[in-house]
Amino acid sequence: MRDELVARLTNAPVVPLVGTDDADVAVKTADALAAGGLSVIEVVLRSDNAQAGMEAILKRCDDVIVGAGTVLTLDQAKAVHQAGAQFIVCPGLVDEIAEYCLAEDVPIYPGTMTAGEVQRAYALGLREVKFFPASLAGGVPMLKALGSVFREMRFMPTGGVSAANLSEFLALDSVIACGGSWLTPKDAVASGDFAAITRLAEEAVSIAATARS
Ligand code: 3PG
Repeated sequence: MRDELVARLTNAPVVPLVGTDDADVAVKTADALAAGGLSVIEVVLRSDNAQAGMEAILKRCDDVIVGAGTVLTLDQAKAVHQAGAQFIVCPGLVDEIAEYCLAEDVPIYPGTMTAGEVQRAYALGLREVKFFPASLAGGVPMLKALGSVFREMRFMPTGGVSAANLSEFLALDSVIACGGSWLTPKDAVASGDFAAITRLAEEAVSIAATARS
Protein backbone atom coordinates (compact mmCIF):
# COMPACT_ATOMS: atom_id res chain seq x y z
CA MET A 1 0.00 0.00 0.00
CA ARG A 2 2.79 2.41 0.90
CA ASP A 3 4.40 1.92 -2.54
CA GLU A 4 1.09 2.47 -4.31
CA LEU A 5 0.46 5.61 -2.24
CA VAL A 6 3.89 6.98 -3.12
CA ALA A 7 3.39 6.12 -6.79
CA ARG A 8 0.05 7.92 -6.96
CA LEU A 9 1.33 10.98 -5.14
CA THR A 10 4.33 11.12 -7.45
CA ASN A 11 1.98 11.04 -10.41
CA ALA A 12 -0.59 13.52 -9.01
CA PRO A 13 0.78 15.19 -5.86
CA VAL A 14 -2.47 16.58 -4.49
CA VAL A 15 -4.62 15.20 -1.65
CA PRO A 16 -8.17 16.56 -1.56
CA LEU A 17 -9.98 16.78 1.75
CA VAL A 18 -13.48 15.37 1.98
CA GLY A 19 -15.63 16.34 4.95
CA THR A 20 -19.24 15.24 5.06
CA ASP A 21 -21.58 13.35 7.35
CA ASP A 22 -23.33 11.72 4.41
CA ALA A 23 -21.70 8.51 3.19
CA ASP A 24 -23.35 8.71 -0.25
CA VAL A 25 -22.06 12.23 -0.74
CA ALA A 26 -18.60 11.10 0.35
CA VAL A 27 -18.66 8.36 -2.30
CA LYS A 28 -19.88 10.72 -5.05
CA THR A 29 -17.24 13.28 -4.09
CA ALA A 30 -14.49 10.65 -4.14
CA ASP A 31 -15.66 9.37 -7.53
CA ALA A 32 -15.71 12.93 -8.90
CA LEU A 33 -12.17 13.57 -7.65
CA ALA A 34 -10.91 10.27 -9.06
CA ALA A 35 -12.54 11.07 -12.41
CA GLY A 36 -10.47 14.28 -12.42
CA GLY A 37 -7.27 12.37 -11.70
CA LEU A 38 -6.99 12.62 -7.91
CA SER A 39 -7.33 9.20 -6.33
CA VAL A 40 -5.67 9.74 -2.94
CA ILE A 41 -8.30 11.24 -0.65
CA GLU A 42 -8.31 12.33 2.98
CA VAL A 43 -11.62 12.08 4.81
CA VAL A 44 -11.50 14.52 7.71
CA LEU A 45 -13.04 13.40 10.98
CA ARG A 46 -14.77 16.63 11.85
CA SER A 47 -18.31 15.39 12.33
CA ASP A 48 -19.91 12.48 14.14
CA ASN A 49 -20.53 10.33 11.07
CA ALA A 50 -17.41 11.21 9.05
CA GLN A 51 -15.81 7.80 9.51
CA ALA A 52 -18.82 6.22 7.78
CA GLY A 53 -17.91 8.27 4.70
CA MET A 54 -14.40 6.87 4.73
CA GLU A 55 -15.72 3.34 5.11
CA ALA A 56 -18.19 3.84 2.25
CA ILE A 57 -15.41 5.09 -0.03
CA LEU A 58 -13.30 2.05 0.92
CA LYS A 59 -16.17 -0.25 0.05
CA ARG A 60 -17.58 1.43 -3.03
CA CYS A 61 -14.82 3.34 -4.82
CA ASP A 62 -12.60 0.80 -6.55
CA ASP A 63 -9.57 2.83 -7.42
CA VAL A 64 -9.33 5.29 -4.55
CA ILE A 65 -6.79 5.29 -1.71
CA VAL A 66 -8.51 6.79 1.30
CA GLY A 67 -7.05 7.97 4.57
CA ALA A 68 -8.43 9.54 7.72
CA GLY A 69 -7.59 13.12 8.62
CA THR A 70 -8.03 15.27 11.71
CA VAL A 71 -7.14 12.26 13.85
CA LEU A 72 -6.72 13.69 17.34
CA THR A 73 -6.38 10.71 19.68
CA LEU A 74 -4.77 7.28 19.77
CA ASP A 75 -8.22 5.71 20.11
CA GLN A 76 -9.32 7.45 16.91
CA ALA A 77 -6.16 6.27 15.14
CA LYS A 78 -6.85 2.70 16.22
CA ALA A 79 -10.51 2.94 15.16
CA VAL A 80 -9.76 4.25 11.67
CA HIS A 81 -6.91 1.77 11.20
CA GLN A 82 -9.25 -1.07 12.12
CA ALA A 83 -11.83 0.37 9.73
CA GLY A 84 -9.29 0.21 6.90
CA ALA A 85 -7.81 3.72 6.68
CA GLN A 86 -4.89 3.51 4.27
CA PHE A 87 -3.09 6.47 5.82
CA ILE A 88 -3.58 8.80 8.78
CA VAL A 89 -3.23 12.57 8.98
CA CYS A 90 -3.16 14.59 12.22
CA PRO A 91 -3.18 18.36 12.69
CA GLY A 92 -0.29 18.05 15.16
CA LEU A 93 2.37 15.64 16.36
CA VAL A 94 1.37 13.24 19.13
CA ASP A 95 4.12 10.76 19.92
CA GLU A 96 1.85 7.84 20.84
CA ILE A 97 -0.12 8.13 17.60
CA ALA A 98 3.07 8.31 15.54
CA GLU A 99 4.51 5.31 17.40
CA TYR A 100 1.33 3.30 16.90
CA CYS A 101 1.27 4.03 13.15
CA LEU A 102 4.96 3.19 12.79
CA ALA A 103 4.42 -0.11 14.63
CA GLU A 104 1.38 -0.93 12.49
CA ASP A 105 3.10 0.24 9.29
CA VAL A 106 0.34 2.76 8.54
CA PRO A 107 1.63 5.83 6.69
CA ILE A 108 1.14 8.83 8.98
CA TYR A 109 1.43 12.54 8.26
CA PRO A 110 1.41 14.42 11.58
CA GLY A 111 1.14 18.19 11.44
CA THR A 112 4.31 20.18 12.13
CA MET A 113 5.06 23.88 11.80
CA THR A 114 8.31 24.48 13.71
CA ALA A 115 11.85 23.12 13.54
CA GLY A 116 11.31 21.62 16.99
CA GLU A 117 8.26 19.67 15.85
CA VAL A 118 9.96 18.46 12.69
CA GLN A 119 12.98 17.39 14.74
CA ARG A 120 10.74 15.50 17.18
CA ALA A 121 9.07 13.72 14.25
CA TYR A 122 12.52 12.91 12.88
CA ALA A 123 13.62 11.50 16.25
CA LEU A 124 10.51 9.31 16.33
CA GLY A 125 11.60 7.82 13.02
CA LEU A 126 9.25 9.68 10.69
CA ARG A 127 10.53 10.93 7.37
CA GLU A 128 7.26 12.42 6.12
CA VAL A 129 5.13 15.02 7.90
CA LYS A 130 2.30 17.39 7.19
CA PHE A 131 3.24 21.10 7.25
CA PHE A 132 0.23 22.81 8.81
CA PRO A 133 -1.24 25.36 8.51
CA ALA A 134 1.04 25.85 5.54
CA SER A 135 0.32 29.45 4.62
CA LEU A 136 0.22 30.74 8.22
CA ALA A 137 3.29 28.71 9.23
CA GLY A 138 5.47 30.59 6.78
CA GLY A 139 4.55 29.03 3.46
CA VAL A 140 7.19 28.33 0.84
CA PRO A 141 10.04 30.32 2.51
CA MET A 142 9.56 28.38 5.77
CA LEU A 143 9.50 25.07 3.91
CA LYS A 144 12.72 26.02 2.13
CA ALA A 145 14.34 26.74 5.48
CA LEU A 146 13.11 23.51 7.07
CA GLY A 147 14.00 21.48 3.97
CA SER A 148 17.58 22.76 3.99
CA VAL A 149 18.09 21.52 7.57
CA PHE A 150 16.05 18.31 7.51
CA ARG A 151 17.40 16.94 4.27
CA GLU A 152 15.68 13.55 4.57
CA MET A 153 12.32 14.95 5.62
CA ARG A 154 9.51 15.39 3.14
CA PHE A 155 6.48 17.59 3.71
CA MET A 156 2.80 17.68 2.86
CA PRO A 157 1.77 21.36 3.06
CA THR A 158 -1.91 21.77 3.90
CA GLY A 159 -3.90 24.76 5.08
CA GLY A 160 -4.23 27.72 2.77
CA VAL A 161 -3.09 25.84 -0.33
CA SER A 162 -5.16 26.53 -3.46
CA ALA A 163 -4.93 26.52 -7.24
CA ALA A 164 -3.31 29.96 -6.93
CA ASN A 165 -0.26 28.84 -4.94
CA LEU A 166 -0.11 25.07 -5.59
CA SER A 167 2.69 25.32 -8.13
CA GLU A 168 4.93 27.28 -5.73
CA PHE A 169 4.69 24.52 -3.12
CA LEU A 170 5.11 21.72 -5.64
CA ALA A 171 8.22 23.36 -7.08
CA LEU A 172 10.04 22.34 -3.88
CA ASP A 173 11.73 18.92 -3.95
CA SER A 174 10.94 18.46 -0.27
CA VAL A 175 7.20 18.54 -0.94
CA ILE A 176 5.57 15.11 -1.38
CA ALA A 177 2.13 16.49 -2.15
CA CYS A 178 -0.19 19.31 -1.11
CA GLY A 179 -3.45 18.75 0.71
CA GLY A 180 -6.49 20.96 0.74
CA SER A 181 -10.18 21.55 0.82
CA TRP A 182 -10.27 23.91 -2.18
CA LEU A 183 -11.02 20.87 -4.37
CA THR A 184 -14.26 20.12 -2.54
CA PRO A 185 -16.01 23.47 -2.07
CA LYS A 186 -18.91 23.28 0.37
CA ASP A 187 -21.39 24.83 -2.08
CA ALA A 188 -20.54 22.34 -4.85
CA VAL A 189 -20.87 19.41 -2.44
CA ALA A 190 -24.13 20.76 -1.00
CA SER A 191 -25.70 21.33 -4.42
CA GLY A 192 -24.47 18.01 -5.82
CA ASP A 193 -22.35 19.73 -8.46
CA PHE A 194 -19.86 16.88 -8.71
CA ALA A 195 -18.85 17.93 -12.23
CA ALA A 196 -17.41 21.10 -10.71
CA ILE A 197 -15.33 18.97 -8.33
CA THR A 198 -14.02 16.92 -11.25
CA ARG A 199 -13.05 20.15 -13.03
CA LEU A 200 -11.17 21.40 -9.94
CA ALA A 201 -9.33 18.07 -9.73
CA GLU A 202 -8.39 18.28 -13.41
CA GLU A 203 -7.12 21.82 -12.91
CA ALA A 204 -4.96 20.70 -9.94
CA VAL A 205 -3.57 17.76 -11.93
CA SER A 206 -2.63 20.07 -14.74
CA ILE A 207 -0.97 22.63 -12.41
CA ALA A 208 0.92 19.80 -10.71
CA ALA A 209 2.12 18.36 -14.01
CA THR A 210 3.53 21.75 -15.05
CA ALA A 211 5.10 22.41 -11.64
CA ARG A 212 6.83 19.03 -11.54
CA SER A 213 8.01 19.02 -15.17
C1 3PG B 1 -6.47 20.70 7.13
O1 3PG B 1 -7.24 20.00 7.73
O2 3PG B 1 -5.37 20.28 6.77
C2 3PG B 1 -6.85 22.11 6.83
O3 3PG B 1 -7.91 22.54 7.58
C3 3PG B 1 -7.15 22.30 5.41
O4 3PG B 1 -7.00 23.62 5.13
P1 3PG B 1 -7.69 24.31 3.87
O5 3PG B 1 -9.16 24.26 4.16
O6 3PG B 1 -7.12 25.68 3.84
O7 3PG B 1 -7.34 23.50 2.65
